[in-house]
Amino acid sequence: AVGGGDELRHVEDMADLPSGAGKSSRVKGVILGESLASEEDDLVFPSRDFSQQALVSSLQQYQEMYKRSIDDPAGFWSEIASEFHWKKKWDSEVYSENIDVSKGTVMIEWFKGATTNVCYNAVDRNIEAGNGGKIAMYWEGNEPGQDGQLTYAQLLDKVCQLANYLKHVGVSKGDAVVIYLPMLMELPIAMLACARIGAIHSVVFAGFSAESLAQRIIDCKPKVVITCNAVRRGAKPIFLKEIVDNALVECSKNGVSVGLCLTYENQLAMTRKDTKWQDGRDVWWQDVVPNFPTTCEVEWVDAEDPLFLLYTSGSTGKPKGVLHTTGGYMIYTATTFKYAFDYKPSDIYWCTADCGWITGHSYVTYGPLLNGATVVVFEGAPNYPDSGRCWDIVDKYKVTIFYTAPTLIRSLMRDGNEYVTRYSRKSLRILGSVGEPINPSAWRWFFNVVGDSQCPISDTWWQTETGGFMITPLPGAWPQKPGSATFPFFGVQPVIVDEKGKEIEGECSGYLCIKKSWPGAFRTLYGDHDRYETTYFKPFPGYYFTGDGCSRDKDGYHWLTGRVDDVINVSGHRIGTAEIESALVSHPLCAEAAVVGVEHEVKGQGIYAFVTLVEGVPYSEELRKSLVLAVRNQIGAFAAPDKIHWAPGLPKTRSGKIMRRILRKIASKQLNELGDTSTLADPSVVDQLIALSDC
Ligand code: PRX
Repeated sequence: AVGGGDELRHVEDMADLPSGAGKSSRVKGVILGESLASEEDDLVFPSRDFSQQALVSSLQQYQEMYKRSIDDPAGFWSEIASEFHWKKKWDSEVYSENIDVSKGTVMIEWFKGATTNVCYNAVDRNIEAGNGGKIAMYWEGNEPGQDGQLTYAQLLDKVCQLANYLKHVGVSKGDAVVIYLPMLMELPIAMLACARIGAIHSVVFAGFSAESLAQRIIDCKPKVVITCNAVRRGAKPIFLKEIVDNALVECSKNGVSVGLCLTYENQLAMTRKDTKWQDGRDVWWQDVVPNFPTTCEVEWVDAEDPLFLLYTSGSTGKPKGVLHTTGGYMIYTATTFKYAFDYKPSDIYWCTADCGWITGHSYVTYGPLLNGATVVVFEGAPNYPDSGRCWDIVDKYKVTIFYTAPTLIRSLMRDGNEYVTRYSRKSLRILGSVGEPINPSAWRWFFNVVGDSQCPISDTWWQTETGGFMITPLPGAWPQKPGSATFPFFGVQPVIVDEKGKEIEGECSGYLCIKKSWPGAFRTLYGDHDRYETTYFKPFPGYYFTGDGCSRDKDGYHWLTGRVDDVINVSGHRIGTAEIESALVSHPLCAEAAVVGVEHEVKGQGIYAFVTLVEGVPYSEELRKSLVLAVRNQIGAFAAPDKIHWAPGLPKTRSGKIMRRILRKIASKQLNELGDTSTLADPSVVDQLIALSDC
């Protein structure tokens, strides 16, 4: 059951792809059972006032710009790139690419030969433009009333001090630095400090367990790990430093030793004296960093030098180190941010994502700061102390652009409108959604209740791998359809292909692929270019394969239908079923496990695990709990299964392959849709599983 090996196998097993064209298949299992019969015709127009002030104010204007971006990508992107600072301009070719495996190694390069620095462009450049006194970040802590702020000039000071310290301890261009921090301002500061000196940051979401953190450290072998002693999530303290300590023990067992653990003292959560310490390795941030100068020379790097690594889940148990480089990523995140949120310098922007995920990289840190925006960084939980917290923050900072995930929208929606309407929210002008398909009723609640029917919603479809938005509304340019990510961003050519990789035109459903590269595309999987090619470029030669299903309606709108591989999306967090299976089978009493995603009212998808115990071991509630604990310990709390289904056996083909299609049907109680079970090695397994459904 544990994944591994060839990911192509999963393409053959993509059971949930809607077959054929048409809207009924589009909704299957993804839009939470709502009937979309009329959704295609449900158009929500931006107001005339909104469109008139928008950067792109009509479909026609978009079409002209889009056409140019496709006909002349080099001209289109180099014009935009010229607005940024380059120490040296690129070589004559703006980009070069081969994404067709049949023609050789896959490679993508943008602005090759140019030298620049993302930190310089995101911070110094804004100061030079006279905006040093503008607020770069507002910070809102876990408890209401805990807050802080930094102007661009102050941000530069902080970034430089840390950059100087990192240089002082021997971090130089090309070295990896792992960052395991909560949403303190020190997190984006640490990312920018790395970028300033050409070091490659790898942020690990602070909800990952010691084992997951260790796995990532072992893969990228950082010189330094940056963390803090503890954080409060709602009322609960989490001792991050202890998690790092445990991870580093695990790393040294695997021959990877990290010489320095720079620890920020988060006094609001825990005092220094209560923090476990390893002299010689552990250093308090506050003891060293403030002693360093507030200016630090920029390391000019090639546009194709790595900026960061971010691990994400795939079809196998081993997370993939998605590598993004400097120049293309910079231009792409800045441009997508600007247009999809119709950014104006007066905006106050808040994205609820954590910097541990790609959204926090591209749209908390880089995209907004590259535009000189004011960003709200929120450390706490959105329902603490109560479900009105988000709107309290919106009013407090006069947030104009609010970007979040459907799972949060659904959970707040469930808590009732009073939590929203109690606050003014008058400052809001644009809303955004990301991470999973947004079901139309959540879309409408977001639009009507949160946005008072005044704010367009940018439902942005993209991925860790794409670096930035790929399919997204431009809020003033065309009417939206609740639940549709609408049209491609400039330079992006989405195509829908059938099982054989043939492009399907017009109204259709199929696998979503992208033709040609775009500047923000990832360049490789760290240390594993073969896996990069196998996973993303071999399934449908000539295209980048996204792993998502998609329909296109009669008006050309795109409707994402969710993953078609063995990846599930829980509360907007991407988790490989194989990772959870591997955590389950590490439990000494678990013989085999198979995990599938099922519809979940709030999380979008829930985690449903079929577990076969070692011969003779009886089922028990205690055992169920310890299996769930095994997953929490190995991956993190967010990956804990919602349901353990005891399985005397798993449905397998004669060649031993688990038929997940059948498991998905059993998990979602669609028993009359099991399909043909006669090819199973032992068809009676299915009846046994059904009999144990509610145990
Ligand atoms: O399935 C798609 C879903 O999230 C996947 C990417 O996950 P990750 O790399 O963790 O990045 C999440 C943030 C960009 C996609 O393959 N997804 C993301 N945004 C949307 C979405 N599905 C539908 N609509 C979206 N707006």
